[in-house]
Amino acid sequence: MASQILRDARAYEEIMEEKIQREKRPVFHLSPRVGWMNDPNGFSYYNGEYHLFYQYYPYKPVWGLMHWGHAVSKDLLHWEYLPAAIAPDTMQDKDGCFSGSAAALPDGRQLLMYTGVAKEMQPDGSIKEVQTQCLAVGDGKDYEKYKKNPVLTQKDFPEDGDKYNFRDPKLWQEEDGSYRCVVGNCTVDGDGRILLFQSKDGFSWEFCLVLAENKGRFGQMWECPDFFSLDKKQVLITSPQYMIPKGLEYHNGNGTLCLIGTFDKETNCFTEEYNQAIDYGIDFYAPQTLLAPDGRRIMIGWMQNWDTCNLHREEQQPWFGQMSLPRELSIKGGRLIQQPIRELETMRTEQIIYNDVSVQGVVQLDGVKGRKIDMELNIRPCNKEEIFKKFAVRFAQNDICHTAVSFRPHESIVKVDRKFSGSRRAIIHQRRCLVNTEDGKLKLRIILDRFSAEVFINDGEQVMTITFYTDQSADGISFYADGKAVIDVVKYNLKEE
Ligand code: FRU
Repeated sequence: MASQILRDARAYEEIMEEKIQREKRPVFHLSPRVGWMNDPNGFSYYNGEYHLFYQYYPYKPVWGLMHWGHAVSKDLLHWEYLPAAIAPDTMQDKDGCFSGSAAALPDGRQLLMYTGVAKEMQPDGSIKEVQTQCLAVGDGKDYEKYKKNPVLTQKDFPEDGDKYNFRDPKLWQEEDGSYRCVVGNCTVDGDGRILLFQSKDGFSWEFCLVLAENKGRFGQMWECPDFFSLDKKQVLITSPQYMIPKGLEYHNGNGTLCLIGTFDKETNCFTEEYNQAIDYGIDFYAPQTLLAPDGRRIMIGWMQNWDTCNLHREEQQPWFGQMSLPRELSIKGGRLIQQPIRELETMRTEQIIYNDVSVQGVVQLDGVKGRKIDMELNIRPCNKEEIFKKFAVRFAQNDICHTAVSFRPHESIVKVDRKFSGSRRAIIHQRRCLVNTEDGKLKLRIILDRFSAEVFINDGEQVMTITFYTDQSADGISFYADGKAVIDVVKYNLKEE
């Protein structure tokens, strides 16, 4: 029987969802049923459908007492809301059900593992939030909290770990049927690390070891880990808090980190080889992956930056927060490659093709406009000896507004810029990243939904994601070159139904 707190949330979201017009939401990026959304949780394939839960505060479009929202989809693009899955209604999680994950149990039920937060008064009168790992079991819609919660506490990891920063379990099932999970943590002096735990049945857990340590390199506390094998390598992703930029990497404060290396299953030893940011735009955090039935490793993130949540705040705004487009992952040359899920191609309509268009100054192309589009651009100079200084594509454009992606071949830099997107806030609007380019060539795939752009560079070597809230009537697209560039354009509208 659902608690009163959960029943209230379910009743509220059902009524409020009706009041939000479809045109006021993104088309194929999940937004909260009502109120606030952050991290993806429990991203998984279960009983023939993809499940996506999320950090959820239904009552206001701001972060609050965390519940788990819930949606299901057959294709990761069209989502159907289910009732909120869990609410902060037990002793261990009375101050929030924080991030976590999902896996199937042998008896067919679905197991959710999440962080329970409970405030604790300190001897000096201050209040701190103790974080423990908890379970809930259900049928894909209704869940019951496990009676023996919490299943992991500070007693389960070495004493140098911080019990106030122990969160975001990501669990998975091994081939032998046993379970494992990684949990974000930091040392008592604030240095991020990831802990590995194991369990025979998914209910009783034990500590294995400290899987990875920051040692002062990437921010502080490490949130939202995930750990999986991919293309004969092992990948650890995490979202460190308070990062310091290094060159053109790690500019997002609370940003993303991907460590690629090898894993020895006998000794549980993870050896790091490469590190990189996951997304080079502004709005991407706390990604989580699933293994699809066809073997694809698919990642989704919260399409938002914690520090820029007030880019667009309206008093009466019914929802805030979006998920990214799910991305297919692979590894090439020690780099994480991300491609939009191929299911997106089924939403393509009204193809428009232009080949060998010469761009010098500003160029507009008939039929190339729109705010829900999938557009591929091949950019090159007219000849190798005459490489243009800068190329740019502007979109969500009208007389006042536009958002731009620009490319400077001599510096190997791509930049996204939303400063003219209609924002009235003095917050970060630009981000640059270093790309591979030879002789002034570059490939871009730009995916626009109502409130976002995801820019896939050179077949997914880099992705730059930004949100923006330009009026939907601003649907112009134009191209610009300082010097002479030549482009091929393939553009599709993305269907709404
Ligand atoms: C990351 C995070 C998680 C936590 C959740 C709370 O964005 O801070 O570490 O579980 O959000 O909503």
